[in-house]
Amino acid sequence: MLRSFLLLVSPLLMSFCDGVCFMCPEICRCSQKSITCNSATESLKSRTHSRLVLNYISLKIISTHSFDGLKGVKRIEIAQSTSVETIEKEAFNNLLNVSEISIQNTRSLVHIHKWAFNHLPKLRYLSISNTGIGVFPDLTSIFSLESDFILYICDNLNLHSVPTNAFIGMTSEFTTMNLFNNGFQEIESHAFNGTKIDKLVLKNNKDLRVIHEDAFKGAFGPTMLDVSSTALETLPSRGLESVLMLVARSAFALKRLPPLNGLKSLREAQLTYPSHCCALLSWDSNREESVITALRNGSSNCADNSPANPSDVASDDSLASDIDGYTSAEDKFGSMDFYYPELDLCHRPALQCSPEADAFNPCEDIAGFSFLRVAIWFINVLAIVGNLTVLLVLFTSRCKLTVPKFLMCHLAFADLCIGVYLLMIATVDLMTRGHYSQHAIEWQTGAGCGIAGFLSVFGGELSVYTLSTITVERWHTITHALRLERRLGLRHASSIMVVGWVVCLGMALLPLMGVSSYNKVSMCLPMDIETPLSQAYIILLLLFNVGAFLVICGCYVRIYTAVRNPEFPGRTADAKIAKRMAVLIFTDFLCMAPISFFAISAAFKVPLITVTNSKILLVLFYPINSCTNPFLYAIFTRAFRKDAYILLSSMGCCESKANLYRMKTYCSENVTRSKSSSGSNGNSKAPRAVVWMSSFPHVTPRSQMQRV
Ligand SMILES: *[C@@H]1O[C@H](CO)[C@@H](O)[C@H](O)[C@H]1NC(C)=O
Ligand SMILES: *[C@@H]1O[C@H](CO)[C@@H](O)[C@H](O)[C@H]1NC(C)=O
Ligand SMILES: *[C@@H]1O[C@H](CO)[C@@H](O)[C@H](O)[C@H]1NC(C)=O
Repeated sequence: MLRSFLLLVSPLLMSFCDGVCFMCPEICRCSQKSITCNSATESLKSRTHSRLVLNYISLKIISTHSFDGLKGVKRIEIAQSTSVETIEKEAFNNLLNVSEISIQNTRSLVHIHKWAFNHLPKLRYLSISNTGIGVFPDLTSIFSLESDFILYICDNLNLHSVPTNAFIGMTSEFTTMNLFNNGFQEIESHAFNGTKIDKLVLKNNKDLRVIHEDAFKGAFGPTMLDVSSTALETLPSRGLESVLMLVARSAFALKRLPPLNGLKSLREAQLTYPSHCCALLSWDSNREESVITALRNGSSNCADNSPANPSDVASDDSLASDIDGYTSAEDKFGSMDFYYPELDLCHRPALQCSPEADAFNPCEDIAGFSFLRVAIWFINVLAIVGNLTVLLVLFTSRCKLTVPKFLMCHLAFADLCIGVYLLMIATVDLMTRGHYSQHAIEWQTGAGCGIAGFLSVFGGELSVYTLSTITVERWHTITHALRLERRLGLRHASSIMVVGWVVCLGMALLPLMGVSSYNKVSMCLPMDIETPLSQAYIILLLLFNVGAFLVICGCYVRIYTAVRNPEFPGRTADAKIAKRMAVLIFTDFLCMAPISFFAISAAFKVPLITVTNSKILLVLFYPINSCTNPFLYAIFTRAFRKDAYILLSSMGCCESKANLYRMKTYCSENVTRSKSSSGSNGNSKAPRAVVWMSSFPHVTPRSQMQRV
């Protein structure tokens, strides 16, 4: 009974229940296999329906001529269907009054055949969203005559590219294209051929990497382009001449702007990186100047053609009103300029760009001042040559490797890192001179800056660590001058340096692993203090440096008092030693100062100094140790000069000098050994004390040396 009732009722209601019910619209005829809504089924009903809603369709195929020749219908909506897989060709055919078609939430829909949308002259709104299509739907036979066509193709995650001529024949009027949240990876050449684009929104296509250089070839516009949250690395250099507004928020891969002259109509930009705004604004103001000089020359008379004919403006209102987020005044300027580029010269409001440059990225070259550009070359060459010399001589030395020499190698290597860091900075500065802001992001987020930053922190910290170790070793040796067995051996020194390397490597690697970062400033130093962890890291660097400085000072004070002790053999050289120490401590302090400045200002987020001025400190003072260390600790010392002469003589010069040294020659360690094996009585006190001194020769009292 019930069943027969249902059998009777269901064909009447034409409903096929599949979880949720599908209601066949009155003006259609529905069966298990098809839905047909055409002029014949429409005319059966006296009442006209302007809206055709088809939810929960249980068919697999929307077949040819399903919607054909409808007269009264203005809107067709297909939504919430899990079974529709295919829309056949001419499914939407010849709908002369239809202005909106929307196909949404049909995840199984994978095929939209060619000419599926055929001859829809009144169409102004087409949405194909949240479907499973893998091929861009064919829109080329719509032939809409409406202005302000609005296209939505969104949330189609299987849609991977916009093919050539995708929109040709869609409409001959201006179009707003909302193509967001799709799976686009590429927009092919001539994709927009034959269209007039008003607004093109490509945001949130997270995999979109390439817009082909010629994608906009054959197209008008766009006037507004949004590529936010895409993976684009650059924009095409052609076809963006009419873009008034460019939005590229969170487009982190967009590190390079296209040639700025290709954006000549740009009025407003919302970008990801402040330095791009630097580039745009300086380019804009340069352009402004050239326009003004042109005007001064009387080549153009602005008063005549401005403010432009009210009628002209009005006729463009339809276009302008589609540019969202514009005030009407901007609209008019915008659309006017689009049509009358010659008005550019007179009434171009200044370019708006955000985000503006922040304190970390002032709009300037890497070397903010030109004297720094000279200084940085001088300093890096000095540091590299000095330290390479030291390394070369130490490695070729025939004398046995002593602890001081061993430490000296590490010091020279650390300082060499700083030299290389400066060389990298200087080279990039030279290459980007005058237009750094265009390359800033590429450099700062690239591998180069990471390597440079790593070298600077690693070199800086290893240098400080090694200096402290050298000083401690000296002090230790002096206090235990008379007890050879307690002197620092090479094994100990090695393990101390291994610890140093591990610590310094760790400190230099942290910014690469996300604790602070090197890409905040053009000098590639860790100045990022956004998180508490980064702040802690900076404070740690500060403490490390201050600690090392205090250790060095402390050791020198102890050495000095030890040497001043009347019992001590080298007393006559007091003044000299004191002077040497003063120089060492002073250079250390100079080197320390900038680091501390930053660390303190960074740690407490107080801008003690601007980034521009900080560069003076960084370039002139930070590398001071790296330049002076090879001289203070090696080149100016006797032992080193001896090694150097011997090396030179082996290459065939300075023979006589070398022989002089050879005669006196004792690699200090050999002397030590012979002495220690020969004499163990108290009388040999003085010579032995001198012996240790000769291993760090710059504290060697010369008179004593002679006596030996
Ligand atoms: C379009 O619809 C209007 C009513 O809204 C009607 O007057 C007109 O005749 C229709 N056009 C066609 C071509 O059927
Ligand atoms: C661009 O469109 C025009 C017609 O508007 C056509 O003749 C031309 O072949 C198209 N270009 C490409 C590369 O497809
Ligand atoms: C001004 O225009 C004249 C020609 O009209 C040209 O010869 C001259 O170089 C221009 N001067 C400037 C500063 O542009």
